[in-house]
Amino acid sequence: MYETRIVHATDDDMKDAVREACALLREGEIVALPTETVYGLAADALNPAAVAKVFAAKDRPSFDPLIVHIASRGDLKNVAIVPQDIADSVSKLTAAFWPGPLTLILPKHPDVPDLVTSGLSTVAVRQSAHPVLRAIHKELGRPIAAPSANRFGRISPTSATAVMKELGGRIPLIVDAGACAEGLESTIIAIEARPNKKPVFRLHRAGPITKEQLQEFGKVEKVKEKTGDLPHAPGQLPSHYAPLTPLMLLERPADFKPEPGKKYGLLSYRGEDDSPYVRLHAWARVESLSPGSGKLAEAAIRLFFVMRLLDEAGLDAIIAEPVSETGLGVAIMDRLRRASTSGATHEKRMGHAS
Ligand code: TXA
Ligand code: MG
Repeated sequence: MYETRIVHATDDDMKDAVREACALLREGEIVALPTETVYGLAADALNPAAVAKVFAAKDRPSFDPLIVHIASRGDLKNVAIVPQDIADSVSKLTAAFWPGPLTLILPKHPDVPDLVTSGLSTVAVRQSAHPVLRAIHKELGRPIAAPSANRFGRISPTSATAVMKELGGRIPLIVDAGACAEGLESTIIAIEARPNKKPVFRLHRAGPITKEQLQEFGKVEKVKEKTGDLPHAPGQLPSHYAPLTPLMLLERPADFKPEPGKKYGLLSYRGEDDSPYVRLHAWARVESLSPGSGKLAEAAIRLFFVMRLLDEAGLDAIIAEPVSETGLGVAIMDRLRRASTSGATHEKRMGHAS
C-alpha cells in the first residue's frame, strides 16, 4: 500500500513535478502521468521490475502488452526495428502525426523487455505531445512504458481525480496537469507493405487520429477481433472501458424496455429537450457528451468523464445514445460498444474484466 500523493504541474511551473516523477521512475517506481489522450501509469520501459509493478497496480494480466512512449522520432530506433519495406511509411506517418495520439506496432528491439510486450515480437510505440510528459522524458532520458492509469477493464482516466479513484493507495504519485485534451486513447495501427501500392494499415484500436486522416498515407483495414481466450491486443477485448453500472448502447429508441422501479440514466449526445432519446423516459439523470452543439471532438474529450459521472450516480443502468460513426465518432462508438453490457459482450466482460 502507498499513500498516493498528487503533485501539480502547469505549463508555466512543472519543475518540481518533473523532478519528483523522474526521481521515482529512476528508483524503479511507478507514477501516473498526463498524456494528451488519457492519464498513463508510467514505468521505466527498460526496467522489468518497474514494469512488473505496473501490471500489479492495474491488476492487468501479463498477456496484455504495454505501449512504449519515446521522447523523439530519433529514439524510435532504440525500441523498435523498422523493416526496410515500411520505413518510408513510418517516416511519413511519424512526420504527420508525432508527437500525437498515434501508436505504431513495429518489430521490437531486443533491449525492450519481454514483459513490456507480453512476449510478442512486436512493440507498440508512440511519442506523446503532452508538455509534462515531454519534460519528464527529457530529464529521464529513457523510454517510458505506460498503459492507461485505470484498473484492468475499467474506464480510462482523463483527470488526476479519476486516477486517484482507480489507483489511489496502489501508486506513490500522480502528476496532475488537468484534463486531457483528447480524452480517448491513441489510435493503434500496424503497417503492412504492398508491392507497388500504398501500404495497408491494420487498425488495432480506433482513436483520435481518424481513418480519414490515415487514408492519405495508406489503406485502412480493421483487425479481425479474436474471440479466443488470449487476444493479441486485449485492449480490444469485446468488453473494456466498462463502468460498474451496467451500460446499454441503445441503437434505436424503440429498443428501450425499462423495468418497473429501476433508475435509468441517459448518456446523451446533445441532451436537447426535443431529442428522441431525452423524451423517451423520465430519466433519473441525463448527461450530455456535447451539450447543445453536438461536436464529436467535444464528445470524445468528455466521454470517459461523463461515463464516470453516471457510474457514480447510483443508477440501476446507463442507457447510451449512439453518435454518428464518422471521423471521431468511430472511436467513440467503439468505446461505447465495449462498455456496453448488452448482448454477447456481457459474457465476455464477465470473463475478462476485473
Ligand atoms: O493513448 C494511449 O494509448 C494511452 C496513453 C497512456 O498513452 N495508453 C493506452 O495504453 O491506452 P493501454 O495499455 O491502456 O492500451 C494499449 C493497447 C492494449 O490494448 C494492448 O493490448 C495494445 O495496446 N498493444 C500493446 N502492444 C501491442 C502489440 N505489440 N501488438 C498489439 N497490440 C498491442
Ligand atoms: Mg487501457
